[in-house]
Amino acid sequence: MSNLKGKHILSVNQFDAGMIKQIFHVADQMAPYAHRKKRTRVLDGAILGNLFFEPSTRTRVSFGTAFNLLGGHVRETAGMANSALSKGESLYDTARVLSSYSDVVAMRHPDSGSVAEFAEGSRVPVINGGDGANEHPTQALLDLYTIEKELHSHGDKIDGMHIAMIGDLKYGRTVHSLSKLLSLYKNIRFTLIAPKELAMPASVMDIIDKAGHQFTIREKLEGNLDADICYQTRIQEERFSSQQEANLYRGKFRLNQQIYTQHFQSKTVIMHPLPRDSRADANELDNDLNLNPNLAIFRQADNGVLVRMALFALTLGVENIISDYDCPVQWYSRKGEQ
Ligand code: NCD
Repeated sequence: MSNLKGKHILSVNQFDAGMIKQIFHVADQMAPYAHRKKRTRVLDGAILGNLFFEPSTRTRVSFGTAFNLLGGHVRETAGMANSALSKGESLYDTARVLSSYSDVVAMRHPDSGSVAEFAEGSRVPVINGGDGANEHPTQALLDLYTIEKELHSHGDKIDGMHIAMIGDLKYGRTVHSLSKLLSLYKNIRFTLIAPKELAMPASVMDIIDKAGHQFTIREKLEGNLDADICYQTRIQEERFSSQQEANLYRGKFRLNQQIYTQHFQSKTVIMHPLPRDSRADANELDNDLNLNPNLAIFRQADNGVLVRMALFALTLGVENIISDYDCPVQWYSRKGEQ
C-alpha cells in the first residue's frame, strides 16, 4: 500500500528513497495513457480543485491534464484577484469550503508556507504546486525523474553525478526542492553558479553539506565543467522588490550553443523548469539550442504529466486498479505514435 494515500504533498522533506521509487514506478505505468494509447476512467466522478493564486501555465495545466487523463474532473480558479482571498478571507476558511467541493486540491500561492497553512483547513489531500520562493515538490520529482531517465540513456546514474545549477538560486523554488531531494543520493557534485546576492539559501546548503555532497560556488560560468546536468533557471523577477533590481541580473546567465560548447561536455543534459525568459534582454536559453539532442526541457515538461498522474493515483489510493478501468481511445491521436 502507498504511504501517500490520503496525505498532503507539501515538501520534498517528506519523501524517502522507497517512496520515490514507488512514485517513479507508478509514473512509468502512466505513459500509455499520456500517449493516448488507451484511457482509464479510474477517477471518474472525482474532482480536483486546481487553485492557482500565482501565474502558471505548465504546472496548472499539467495538474489538470493529469487528473483528466485518470478520468477525473477539474474545477479551477486562477489568479488572486478572482478569488475571495482578495476580500480578506483566510486560507483556512477557503480550505474548509473548497476541500468539501473536491477530492484533492493542487495549489500555488505567492507566500512561503501558505500551502501548508491551507492544508491545515483542508479535509482532502493538498498538493503544493509552489509556495513563494519556498518549495515546489512536484517539480522536483519530475526533475529527478527526468534526470534519472536522461542519465540512464547515457549509461549513467544519479549517485556520483555532477550537476551545475545556474541563475537565481535564491528565489528559485525548483532548485531548492531539487537540491533537498538529491540529499537522498550519494556523492553528488554541485556547481552553484549565481551572483552572491542570488546565492542558494544557507538552509539548502546545509542539507547538501550534511548529505556529504561536494559543492563549488561560482559567480560566473567559466572554465570547463564536466557536468552531467546543466540546470538553468529564470531570474524570478516577481520576487524582487523592484523590476530595476531584477534587471541587474536578467541576461547575465545566457546559455546558447556556443556557450554550451565552450563550457560543457558534448553529453551534458540541459534542463530548465520553464518558462525560459526568451525576451532579447534575458534570453537565458537560446532557441539555437532547440536542435541540440541534449536539450531535455520539453521531455522534462512532458514527464510532469506522468509524475502528477502518479501522485494523484497514490494520494487517492487507486495506483493498483488503474487498468481495471481501461477503455479504448476513439479518436485519431498523433500522441499514440510516440
Ligand atoms: C517554475 C516555478 O513556477 O517555480 N516554473 C514551473 O513551475 N515550471 C520556475 C519559474 O517560474 O521560473
